[in-house]
Amino acid sequence: MAGKQQEEMDFGAESERMKKRTVEGGLLITFEGGEGVGKSTQAERLFLKLQSFGIDVIHAQEPGSSDLGNNVRRWIKRANTSSPLAETLLFEAARAQLMFETVRPALDRGKVVILDRYTDSTLAYQGYARGGDLKTIKKLNDIATAEFAPHLTILLDLDPKVSLARVSNEQDMFASTDDKRATRVDDEGQRRFEEQPLKFHQNIRKGYLEMSKTDPRWAVIKADQAGHRIADAILKRVRRLLIDRDIPDTIFKG
Ligand code: TYD
Repeated sequence: MAGKQQEEMDFGAESERMKKRTVEGGLLITFEGGEGVGKSTQAERLFLKLQSFGIDVIHAQEPGSSDLGNNVRRWIKRANTSSPLAETLLFEAARAQLMFETVRPALDRGKVVILDRYTDSTLAYQGYARGGDLKTIKKLNDIATAEFAPHLTILLDLDPKVSLARVSNEQDMFASTDDKRATRVDDEGQRRFEEQPLKFHQNIRKGYLEMSKTDPRWAVIKADQAGHRIADAILKRVRRLLIDRDIPDTIFKG
């Protein structure tokens, strides 16, 4: 009898350990930055790290992570005549779908949502770089997200001269392999925004840096450091946020 009770207790303790930790109201962490700054790698790294700590976390990307989003992603890379407004509306449509289908339900269940690009990408790309009206884009962002702002935005900041060289090196490196993910080139071989002139990318960076000064949700991290250092800096910020939301500090050890 005592043995059975012990067994039940152990089972209870084990299931307690396996229970994923959630955060009241969820947490939205977004990653932003220009082309080739290592954003997607770092977002994935953070996702795996939080998962290893037992945190209930999901990872999605914009545009993508929904049928509509994947189509917008393909379309946007092929089209070269769209107005900034048309482009904005496409990204907003994909965003509204992703919010409805994935992000809001996950946040409602207390999950941490890591999003590779969000509303600030539209301001930086269609606004600061393509010249779209920032006020209109803000309004459209608000409509698509029901004004849901991220709790933390990680901006990976890098001079486009360096990041674009990285992108073209990656392409050369993977040109002869079948690794489609690594090439950053889509099925049609198009790399639309990456092929824009340097000025376009400088405006994206300028836009991001300007936005980052207006709100404490931003964490600007220099992306010219070793990957593990960037990952550590990101984790430090995220950890602080989670501890503030009553996630015990002890889970981050080891
Ligand atoms: P992708 O290959 O995913 O680039 P990255 O890995 O840098 O995110 O392509 C997405 C492209 O779409 C990228 O160039 C940024 C652009 N984009 C916008 O212009 N506006 C937006 O609102 C979003 C979400 C992305």
